[in-house]
Amino acid sequence: MFKRSLPPWLPSRRDDRSLRAIRLPLLALAIPALVGTATLLFGTHGARAEGGEADTAEQAERCAIRLAIALQGKSADSTLLASGDPQTEVDALIASPEFAERYARFINAEFNGGPADAREDPVYYLAKHVLSKNKPWSELFVGAYAVTATAPGVAPPAMEVKADANGLGYFRSAAWMKRYAGNEDQGYMLSGAFRILSNTTGLELDASVGNPGDDRSATGRKGSACKGCHFDAWYALDKFARLLPKKKGQGDTLAFLPPTDGPQKLLGTTLATDKDLVTSLVDSDAWRFSQCRSVFKFLYGRRENQCEANVFDACVESLSSKKTLASAVAAVAKDPSFCVK
Ligand code: HEC
Repeated sequence: MFKRSLPPWLPSRRDDRSLRAIRLPLLALAIPALVGTATLLFGTHGARAEGGEADTAEQAERCAIRLAIALQGKSADSTLLASGDPQTEVDALIASPEFAERYARFINAEFNGGPADAREDPVYYLAKHVLSKNKPWSELFVGAYAVTATAPGVAPPAMEVKADANGLGYFRSAAWMKRYAGNEDQGYMLSGAFRILSNTTGLELDASVGNPGDDRSATGRKGSACKGCHFDAWYALDKFARLLPKKKGQGDTLAFLPPTDGPQKLLGTTLATDKDLVTSLVDSDAWRFSQCRSVFKFLYGRRENQCEANVFDACVESLSSKKTLASAVAAVAKDPSFCVK
C-alpha cells in the first residue's frame, strides 16, 4: 500500500486514509464469510461452469465495450471486441487523440464547471496539449506555457499553447485570470486563490453569501464568521490571494498589477510568489490524491470507495513515479476490478 507522510497542513486527508486502512481488513474478513453463506444457500455454481468458455468470451467483450466507452467515449472497434484480454490494449487506447480530447473536456468541466467561449478556455487547451504530448501531468499547473487566444478573425476560435518561461500552467493566462478575478474591493483575487487550491488539492468550500450590510472588506473578513476560511485555516484564502496579481479596473480597463504584500507564511513554509505557491501544492500528496480522485470519477463516474484503496494507491503511486496522467489512468483501467464489475 502507498505510504508517505502527508503534509501537516492537511489533517483531514490523513483521517481519510487511516479510516480506509482500518476498514479494509474488516471487509476482507467479511467477504469469505459472505461467499460461504451464499454457497450454503444456493449450492455451487455448477450450471455456470459448463458454459465457461462462452462466459469468458462474453466477459472479454463486455470489458472491451466498457474500456472503449470509458477511455474514448465511443464503441469498441472489431479488433478490441475480438481481443481475448482487452485490458492489454489500455495503453493504446489512452495514447489515442480521443482520450486526450475526452479527458481534457472532463477536467475542464471539473475545474471550471463547464466550457467557456473557445477563446477563453485555457484549461481545456493546455490539458489537451499535456495529454497528447504525454508530458508530466503537473505541467498543466506549473508548466512553462503561454495559453493565448487566436486572433479574433481566425476561425475556428481556439487557443494556442506556446512555450513561455514566464508561464505557470493555465494560472497566468489572461482568460483564466479574468474569469476568476472576482470583485474584492482592494483587487485581491480571492476567487482565483480558491480555484488554485481547489484545482490542485480538491478543496471544497461553499463561499458564504453573508448578510446584507456585512462588511465584506478585509477588516470584515477578519470577523469571527469569516476568518476561518479567509485567514485561519490552512487554506486561508486572503493569505493565498496576497501572492496573486491584484486586479485593477473592470471590463475593458481590467488590468492585473504585481502583488504588493510580500512573502506569506503558508503550507508550513514561506512562499514568495504564485509560482512558489502552486509548486508547493502540486508537490504534495494532496495533489496526487485529488488528481486520482478525478481519474476515478472519469472512469467510474463517481468517487473511489473504501474497497478500492489498493487500486487508488496504485494510481497515486503511478502518478508519483511515472508522472503522467496516462500512467495514473492505466493503473486503474488495467486493474482486473475495472472489468469484473
Ligand atoms: C466556508 C468558507 C468561507 C467563509 C466562512 C466565508 N467565505 Fe468568503 N469566500 C469563500 C470562498 C471559497 C470564496 C471564493 C468564492 C469564489 O469566487 O469562487 C470567498 C470569497 C469571498 C469574497 C470575494 C468575492 C469575489 O467575488 O471576489 C469576499 C468579499 C468574501 N468572501 C467575504 C466573506 C465575508 C465577509 C465572510 C463572513 C461573513 C466570508 N466571506 C466567509 C469562503 C468563505
